[in-house]
Amino acid sequence: MANTILIGAQWGDEGKGKIIDVLTAQANIIVRSQGGNNAGHTVIHDGVTYVLHLIPSGILRRGKICVIGNGVVIDPVALFSEIEGLAKLGVTITSRNLLISDCAHLVLPYHRLLDEQRELRNGRAKIGTTKRGIGPAYADKAARTGLRISDLMQPILFSKKLQAKVRENNSILEALGARPINYREVNEDYLAAGKKLRPFVTNTVLYLHRALQQGKEILFEGAQGTFLDIDHGTYPYVTSSNTTAGGACTGTGVPPHRMDRVVGVMKAYTTRVGEGALPSEDRYLAEMLHRLGREFGATTGRARRCGWFDAVATRYATMINGIDDLAITNLDGLDDVDPIQICVGYRLNGKRLEVPPCDAAQLDNCEPIYEKMRGWKKNISSVRKFSELPLAARNYVKRIAALTGARLAIVSVGPTRAQTIFL
Ligand code: IMP
Ligand code: MG
Repeated sequence: MANTILIGAQWGDEGKGKIIDVLTAQANIIVRSQGGNNAGHTVIHDGVTYVLHLIPSGILRRGKICVIGNGVVIDPVALFSEIEGLAKLGVTITSRNLLISDCAHLVLPYHRLLDEQRELRNGRAKIGTTKRGIGPAYADKAARTGLRISDLMQPILFSKKLQAKVRENNSILEALGARPINYREVNEDYLAAGKKLRPFVTNTVLYLHRALQQGKEILFEGAQGTFLDIDHGTYPYVTSSNTTAGGACTGTGVPPHRMDRVVGVMKAYTTRVGEGALPSEDRYLAEMLHRLGREFGATTGRARRCGWFDAVATRYATMINGIDDLAITNLDGLDDVDPIQICVGYRLNGKRLEVPPCDAAQLDNCEPIYEKMRGWKKNISSVRKFSELPLAARNYVKRIAALTGARLAIVSVGPTRAQTIFL
């Protein structure tokens, strides 16, 4: 399969978890390069639903090695409880199948509280974060004041640094009218989690380079999606990491020329959780999908906002990420919809735009230009071959792939591994 970067081409929740799980069959190593436990990757296998937050989805397959790279922000307590939760479902996680970068930054309780407070105080201008402390943790990283896994591996040093950080952040929390943090408790919890994580911690850059020398194949598992990228997304309604293909390099230490292929995952329609513009948003589509029990967040349980397929967005995503192959997911979500609309352009102040504007207010004022297509009005969840899809469904996926500008490689018609059509 060669070294493959898998990214979301929309606003996250494209169904990456399932596609990663399918592609993992051909990879040796699966790496997370950015984000933290704001992610929620759902994989259904043998009737069991697994929701992964920090651990790469590859962990569900035997013999695969999973790596949490330097670009990820780790809440060690949450990570350990995820490991324990998976163990209860029969997934064995040891230092033989999970490695954690010593350079990864830590998410601390004050990050979570600051995230919460900022959202509260911003009222209607809130971002709609997952409240996992992701933004404040990356802010500390960029400000060069963060604590890392390597600090946690040195208890005396860690406690000293933590004490100073807690003091500083408590003064901010108090000024915001929030409850201060108890240093002792946090110190104890984190050192305990750190002790349990110690066997997994290593220089993952070195590990990955040695593996590459041995001809091992790596799958880079993206979290969130292109339009949540801190640089290319719908700022400020974004997450705080580079969710686009470049993030796979900086977040792991594997250089660009070792990457062979970029797979972009996109839903057959559009969804978004949290605030920010969504030009093709459609209430009717959202009501219908929610009625089917679809489109509720895996991390926060929030109902996702829904809209028609936005080809302006996915075309731009193809450009930024260099998407070679497309995986289109949730095609079965449109089984009852007729006609189906596709957003092929934006109109802003009488002008037609072919790419999303940088400015949040301008994007909010963009009016979608739609193209209509026939629906198939048929349950397609048991189809396993492209040629067996109804003609209208084939036409629809071909059209959205053509508008997006990448090769159609996978069509997913349901959450299980088996419900996957390869082209
Ligand atoms: P944060 O990453 O928690 O700071 O949230 C920032 C924005 O990204 C919010 O709109 C979240 O809903 C969104 N977001 C973060 N992680 C995910 C994800 O894994 N899937 C979908 N949306 C996400
Ligand atoms: Mg998700």
